[in-house]
Amino acid sequence: MRMRSVRPALKTALLLAPLTLGVAGAGGSTTPPAAPTPPVRPASAVQPARPAGSAVSLRALADARGLLFGAAVNHTLFDPNEPDYARTLNRHFNAVVAENAMKWAGLHNNREAFAFGFADAIVDTAIKNGQTVRGHTLVWHDSLPPWVYTIQTREELLRAMQDHVTGVVTHFRGRVRMWDVVNEAVSDAPGHPLRSSPFLNLIGPDFIDEAFRAAHAADPDAKLYYNDYNTDGLNGKSDAVYELVRGMLARGVPIHGVGFQAHLNTDFDVRGAQVQANLQRFRDLGLDVQMTEVDVQLRPGRPEAGELARQAAVYRDLLRACLSVKCAGFVTWGVTDFNSWRAGGRPLIFDDVYDPKPAFAALAQELAPPGR
Ligand code: XIL
Repeated sequence: MRMRSVRPALKTALLLAPLTLGVAGAGGSTTPPAAPTPPVRPASAVQPARPAGSAVSLRALADARGLLFGAAVNHTLFDPNEPDYARTLNRHFNAVVAENAMKWAGLHNNREAFAFGFADAIVDTAIKNGQTVRGHTLVWHDSLPPWVYTIQTREELLRAMQDHVTGVVTHFRGRVRMWDVVNEAVSDAPGHPLRSSPFLNLIGPDFIDEAFRAAHAADPDAKLYYNDYNTDGLNGKSDAVYELVRGMLARGVPIHGVGFQAHLNTDFDVRGAQVQANLQRFRDLGLDVQMTEVDVQLRPGRPEAGELARQAAVYRDLLRACLSVKCAGFVTWGVTDFNSWRAGGRPLIFDDVYDPKPAFAALAQELAPPGR
């Protein structure tokens, strides 16, 4: 792990006391599948001493604004050796999304039976802690079990997809309030056609409409999202997503929102990319918008302090754009750098030992009530 020598400077900059103890820890002791195994850390890093009390709770600030402020969670939630994980999650986030546990391969690896145990544990813990759950994700070209690839006909795959969506959404009805129904269906190829996948290739482009219809039938109260990456600013890919969802609305397909993943790095220029204008055009269609998987990787080989300041500025500008269009949510893709799927880029707002980074302070400032 990194040495702690860089951290006093951060703390001075933040003027923040370390996180408080207090909110109930995670329940259960099971380990969800498909989560990356964290590297072993020295025992001293696992449970750093923490004085009680914290000047700022992002959760409280987000609550006051009616904003969902979430984090993707994984098995470390249930690790009794890592109590800071649940503490940090519960103190600073009012929403959670399962990083992997609700993906098709996580819930439905065996065609004959769903396996809801790990996802249920995440949902039950979140509800116990008063957090809203985003469901992620029902239909995606990735994380599919082998049996899906054995299907040969449109009819069979359409039925299998509908059964999957119906089974999952029905199971979580009333507990999971919103779903990423279709994830990453638009490709990065020139012109941004729909991405090759079993669903597109066998069912055809209407797999998207059918997935949303099945989800809506299973839980008419759930907010249904299309979710994608590299669509945060005005660009060819976000144009393609815009046309996709506009068409869905015109066909009467039950879609309520668009998720913008925002997997970024410190070179990303939120204003230059016109994120606000992009989000606004989706709002103008009558859709909700959320930043759904935010992380901002540091670029290697640059001075640390400058990179952390740039990272904070990207987080701040992104949240500002989001709030300016009355976005429904802002979700970071993990809790700490240590838990991140892109740990090498240290892309999150808490460092390896759960201390807030400059990006935390930037978000706190942005979330603070006007005039403060
Ligand atoms: C990632 C997880 O973070 C990893 O742990 C996993 O190995 C692969 O998936 N877009 C998405 C997320 O919609 O589901 C992905 O999550 C990151 C990219």
